[in-house]
This record gives sequence, C-alpha cells and structure tokens, in this order.
Amino acid sequence: MKNKVAVITGGSSGIGEALAYKFSKENFDVVIGGTNGERIKSVLSNIKEKGGRGEGIIHDVSSSDDVKKMVDLAVNKFGRIDVLICNAGISIRSLFEDVDIKSFEKLFSINFLGSVYCVKHSLPYIIKSSGSIIAISSLNGFIATPTRTAYVSSKHAMQGFFDSLRLELKRKNVHVMVASPGYVHSNFRKNTLKSDGKKEGKTSRDHANMMSPEEVAEKVFRGYLTKKRDLIFTFRGKLAYLIKNWFPKVADRLAYNEILNERESLLKNY
Ligand SMILES: NC(=O)c1ccc[n+]([C@@H]2O[C@H](COP(=O)([O-])OP(=O)(O)OC[C@H]3O[C@@H](n4cnc5c(N)ncnc54)[C@H](OP(=O)(O)O)[C@@H]3O)[C@@H](O)[C@H]2O)c1
Repeated sequence: MKNKVAVITGGSSGIGEALAYKFSKENFDVVIGGTNGERIKSVLSNIKEKGGRGEGIIHDVSSSDDVKKMVDLAVNKFGRIDVLICNAGISIRSLFEDVDIKSFEKLFSINFLGSVYCVKHSLPYIIKSSGSIIAISSLNGFIATPTRTAYVSSKHAMQGFFDSLRLELKRKNVHVMVASPGYVHSNFRKNTLKSDGKKEGKTSRDHANMMSPEEVAEKVFRGYLTKKRDLIFTFRGKLAYLIKNWFPKVADRLAYNEILNERESLLKNY
C-alpha cells in the first residue's frame, strides 16, 4: 500500500519543520515548501536519514503559480495528497499609523492568500483521498492585540475562510481543522517585520515558557487523527477564548496590557 502524503507550507523552519518530521515519522511522504533552499535541503536530509521520503520546493506562497508547483510536485512524485497543512506565515510589529502598507499587503498575501492558493490547487486531490486540511492559525485568529493589526486581521481572515470552507465541504468527507497555538519557541519573532519592512532580528518576548514546535506538531497530529474541528493548545489559550466571547472588554484590557508589557513595547510612548 502507498504511503499517505502530507503537503506542508513553511516546512523549512519552526512548526512546519517539526510537522514534517512528525508526519514522516508516522509514515507519511512529505512535501515541504519555503523560501530558504538551504533549510529545505537540511530538513529533507534529516527526513531521509531516518528512512523517510520527502520532496521540497523553494517557492513563495504569496504566488498562486508557485503554490501550484508545490501541489504538482506532490502529485507527480507521490500520486496523491492526503493532508494539506497551511503553515507558512510571518508577522509585523508596528503601530498601524506607522506601518508600511506594502509590508501589510505582503503579510496578507503570505498568511491569508497563501492558504487560499494552497487549498484551491490541492482541493481536488484532497476530496479524492477524503483527506484533511489543517490551518496553522493563532490565538490571534480570534483575539485582537494592538501593534499587530496586519497579523491579527490575516489570522481572523484565515479563521473565517477555513470555517466557511468546512461547511461547504460538509458532504465531501474532508476534515478541516484550525489549529491556534499560543506562543511557540521558533524564529517567528526574529523574522517579524518592523514598520520599515525590515526584520526585527531579535525577539520581543521571553521564550523560556513557550511551547516547542515539536509539542505543537504532536498535538496537531493527534488532532488530525481524531478529526478535531479546532485545536486551542493551552489552558491559557482556552481561557482566553472564553474571556473573549463572554467578557470582550476584559479581553481587550488583558491584550492591551500584554503588549504594553512586552520588550520595547510600541505602546509605551503612544
Ligand atoms: N511562533 C509562534 O509563537 C506562533 C504562534 C501562533 C501561530 N504561529 C504560526 O505558526 C506558523 C509557523 O510559524 P513558526 O513559528 O514556525 O515561524 P518560523 O520559524 O519563522 O517559520 C515560518 C515558515 O514560513 C515560511 N515562509 C515565510 N514566508 C514565506 C513565503 N513567502 N513563501 C513560503 N514560505 C514562507 C518560512 O520559510 P523560509 O524560512 O524558508 O522563508 C518558514 O518555514 C505561522 O503561520 C505563524 O503565524 C506561530
């Protein structure tokens, strides 16, 4: 019998990399994408070293044509797609008043449209395999924070897109799951853009108590197996979800203070 196939965007680093190893360990053939060719090579070689099979592509998820190439690669090499994981993403830390609008558009094209393109090109194969579509969103998919307007709105857009898609696919036997991690220890914050469009290059938070990408990957895999609708990872995340829904003003205050207290907070003098 052929292995199942997982296609993972942003598989060159952090959560996507850990997902690639986890699905490979569970006997999936994996196809990963990213912009960093060296990292893609290294992830694939780690997979092959452990006896797994993988393919990679250097591409930009904000291009529909580039995303189609990833889907074509999966189908040409492995003949099917069982799981699509829309994981590639970036953030911007900036006051909206100062944000570079080109960076705002870029972020939306990666986080939101990148996910839309992935689903669009792979959907016929996922319907055929009665497979799963998994979105790596964020607590910011339903909770707003200041100085992250681009990121928060892109993740809210993802939530709406995948929730709507799930309903539409009701009779197609396709599982759609939105995973919403809290803080995860990865290069994400170093890669976050500033208002001038350049990378932060350092983190605005203490990483000591953050979840590891490996823990996220384990939980996502379990969520995949048990066909979860939503995955909110920590007690704190679940509590935040309840507070947001029942006491939105309290949620606003907590979110404001959280950002006010981060390192070099942009709210301090605003
Ligand atoms: N870290 C957190 O605290 C956290 C919390 C909640 C949700 N998330 C979500 O988790 C996802 C993964 O983040 P991470 O923490 O693993 O961060 P990361 O280590 O920075 O990984 C981001 C991944 O996205 C890829 N990517 C970025 N721009 C791309 C583009 N234009 N085309 C193709 N791939 C692109 C990167 O590829 P290259 O490196 O090859 O460019 C990298 O593989 C994101 O969607 C993020 O919003 C993260």
